[in-house]
Amino acid sequence: MMYSVPGKFQPATPPYLVRQRESSKQLYFAMLDERGGSAGQIDELANAKSRSLLLEQLVVAAEIDTDFPTDMRSLPSVLHNAHDQAAQAYRRYLDGRHAGSPRRYFSCRAHALYFLRAVAPTKLVDGAWLYGVLARWQDSRLAPLIQTYLEELGCGNPAQNHVLLYRQLLARYGCDNWQDGPDGHFTQGAVQLALAHHAREFLPELIGFNLGYEQLPLHLLITAYELNELDIDPYYFSLHVTIDNASTGHARKALQTVLDNSPRTGDVSEFQRRVGNGFRLNLVGMGTPQAIESFDIEQELQRVFADKALIGAQLHSDYCLVGGRSVSDWLSSPGEIVDLLSALQSAGWIRRGESPEQSRFWRLLTDEQAPMFGVFDGYEQQLLKDWILADSGENPTARTTNRFRNRQIPGPVDEAPAGLQSGTSVAQIIARHASGNPKLGRGADVDALFQKLVRIDTKAEAFAVLTGLLSPANHPTPAGLVATRLYADLFQHVTSP
Ligand SMILES: [Fe+2]
Repeated sequence: MMYSVPGKFQPATPPYLVRQRESSKQLYFAMLDERGGSAGQIDELANAKSRSLLLEQLVVAAEIDTDFPTDMRSLPSVLHNAHDQAAQAYRRYLDGRHAGSPRRYFSCRAHALYFLRAVAPTKLVDGAWLYGVLARWQDSRLAPLIQTYLEELGCGNPAQNHVLLYRQLLARYGCDNWQDGPDGHFTQGAVQLALAHHAREFLPELIGFNLGYEQLPLHLLITAYELNELDIDPYYFSLHVTIDNASTGHARKALQTVLDNSPRTGDVSEFQRRVGNGFRLNLVGMGTPQAIESFDIEQELQRVFADKALIGAQLHSDYCLVGGRSVSDWLSSPGEIVDLLSALQSAGWIRRGESPEQSRFWRLLTDEQAPMFGVFDGYEQQLLKDWILADSGENPTARTTNRFRNRQIPGPVDEAPAGLQSGTSVAQIIARHASGNPKLGRGADVDALFQKLVRIDTKAEAFAVLTGLLSPANHPTPAGLVATRLYADLFQHVTSP
C-alpha cells in the first residue's frame, strides 16, 4: 500500500504512527543511557534493538510516497521547487493572517505548549542522527555532515546548543514533564538515536535522512510565527529557519553530501534507493502536523485531572465536599473525572467563560498561600486557564505581540579563537582549552577529560578521547560542551591527522 504525500512537507496522516514490537519510548531512553559502558557507547541489547527498529521503520518508510526523485540528477531542482513552494505558501499564509484569518495551528496558548511537549522527545536529540559520522572524520566527503553536527551542538557554546536551547524553552513555560507522553511521541527521536549508533551500516540512509531533515518546511515558518503571537519565545524554531537555509546552510551541505558520496564505480541505483529511503524516514512516527492535530482540550484536561487523582486521592480532608461528595471520594474514581469537572462547575468552583480569577478552584491552585499551589505545572495551569476562558473572548494571549521579534540569531561559530594561527599544534590547542577552563568549579568530569588528553599530539588520538563525549547523551553536559569546543577547534583548524 502506498500512502500518498503530495510533496514531502504536506501534513501526513496517521498511517505513519506505526508501533513496532519494541516500545519506542523504552528504546529511546535506553539509547540515552550510556552508564553501562564507555562514553558514546550504548549497551549490546540497546544496540541490537535499535538496529531492529531502524530496519522496521525503513520498511515503513519505503511505503511512503514522496516527491523524492528516482533520477538523482533532478534532485537539486526538486529541492529548489519544494523550497519555493514553501516560501510561496508562507507568503499566502501571511497575507491571509493580515487580512484577518485566524491562527492555522494553535487554537490557544495551551495548544502551543502541548505541541512543545509532544515534540520534545525529537527536539531533545536534535542532530543525533549525525553523531556516528564523527568516526569517519578522515573522509573529506563527510566533513559537511560533521560541520552540521558541530553546529547543532553550538560548537560547545551552551547558548547555541540546540538541545540545551530546547530544554530551556520547556523549563521556561513549565513544560518539563514530557517523559510520560504516549509511545508514538518517541518513534522519530528513537529513529534518530538509532541512526547515531548505526552510521557505518546505514550511511546512505543517514545521508538521505539528513537531506530530508534539513529542508525548510512550511510548518516551521508558521510555528515560529504563531508561537510569537502567543507570547511564547519562537527562537528555537526561527533559528532553524536561518541555519537550515538552502543557499549556504545545512540544506546546502546536505545536498552536497549526497552528490559527493554517490558512487563513481559502484551500484549508483542502489545508493539512490537507500538515500531515498532515508529521506522518507523523516516521515515515520509523529511529525509536527500530527502533533498539532492531536490536541483536544477536553481530553487533555481530563488526562491531567486523572493524573492528579492518582496522587491526590488520599491527600484531601473529608470536609472538602463537591456536589455532596468528598474530594477524596471523587479522586478515587478516575473514571468519573468528567462528572467531577461538571460538579465543580455546578458548585460554582469553576466559572467558565469568565476570567479565571473568578473561579475558586483556580485561586486554590495559583494563590501563593493556597493549599494546591504548585500542584499544576505551567503547562497544566495554562490548559485549565484556556479551558475556563473557553470562547469568552477574554483570552489575553490571543493578540499579536512583537516581544521576541528582535532577538538576534547568531551564526555558526566558525572563527578561530583569538590568537589561534593556522599551524598551531594539537597539543597547543589542547593546552589552550585546558587553561581556558579554570580548574575551580569545572567539575570532575572535565578534570578527567584533560587528564586523558595529557601528552596527546595528534588529531586522531585527541578525537579518540573526545568523540564519546559528543554523543547525544553526553554533549549537553559540562564535559560534553568542553569536549565539543575542543573538537570543533581541532576539526576546523588542524589539517594534519
Ligand atoms: Fe537543530
